[in-house]
Amino acid sequence: MNLLAVTALSKSFRERRLLAIDALSLSAGERYVLTGENGSGKSTLLRILAGIDAPDSGVGHFGKRHFDWSPYPNWLRQEVIYVHQQPYLFHTSVVENIAYGLRARGVEAGERERRVAAAIAWARLGHLLRTPPQKLSGGERQRVALARAWVLAPKVLLLDEPTANLDAESRQQTIDLVQAFCGPETTAVIACHDRDMIALADRRRLHLVDGLIQQNSTPAL
Ligand SMILES: Nc1ncnc2c1ncn2[C@@H]1O[C@H](COP(=O)(O)OP(=O)(O)OP(=O)(O)O)[C@@H](O)[C@H]1O
Ligand SMILES: [Mg+2]
Repeated sequence: MNLLAVTALSKSFRERRLLAIDALSLSAGERYVLTGENGSGKSTLLRILAGIDAPDSGVGHFGKRHFDWSPYPNWLRQEVIYVHQQPYLFHTSVVENIAYGLRARGVEAGERERRVAAAIAWARLGHLLRTPPQKLSGGERQRVALARAWVLAPKVLLLDEPTANLDAESRQQTIDLVQAFCGPETTAVIACHDRDMIALADRRRLHLVDGLIQQNSTPAL
């Protein structure tokens, strides 16, 4: 079943046509890797899908509901989460960073605490609760960012190179966490160059070249 689909999606920066995608559809509960050369538009596509950037034109469907980017609907922001390659953390605390999205959604305090505690356990962050977020290592920041996304239980998870710039141990921890995130309830698109991460994606691969998406179901790499 198609969960998120876009058609006739185009995006240019000045003279350059970056994206010209006739149709892209993501099935519910599947995970995809998004590959493509540096500058091919992977981050831009993920940011458009999450409503952080707008395309020049394009229409979308989420299940049976139609949407576009003028403006990108708030109900869809509740379903689609983008995790930046170098996540920005507020200079408050790990707990506050994870609780932020729940607070923004009006989740009441007791429920919020329960869900944040579950996210901390899930991402094994318990020993870092007193560490100022700006002092965390790259791998720890990535785990906070994943916990902050996980706590919101998104239907669509968009990860932008989650293992880039991590040492071997942090990289493996991040791969394991992404694996744990991607259950049958979550459709995931993972932009990456990381072979181990690509191998997680089973058979679904999206490849961006010259602004077009090549979508296939043959084994990745
Ligand atoms: N706001 C902007 N204004 C002008 N050009 C932009 C803007 N955002 C992105 N670009 C350009 O669009 C192209 C695609 O960028 P994007 O970050 O989406 O690529 P990418 O595939 O994610 O690359 P990488 O593998 O390096 O992360 C790049 O050439 C970039 O310079
Ligand atoms: Mg990128």
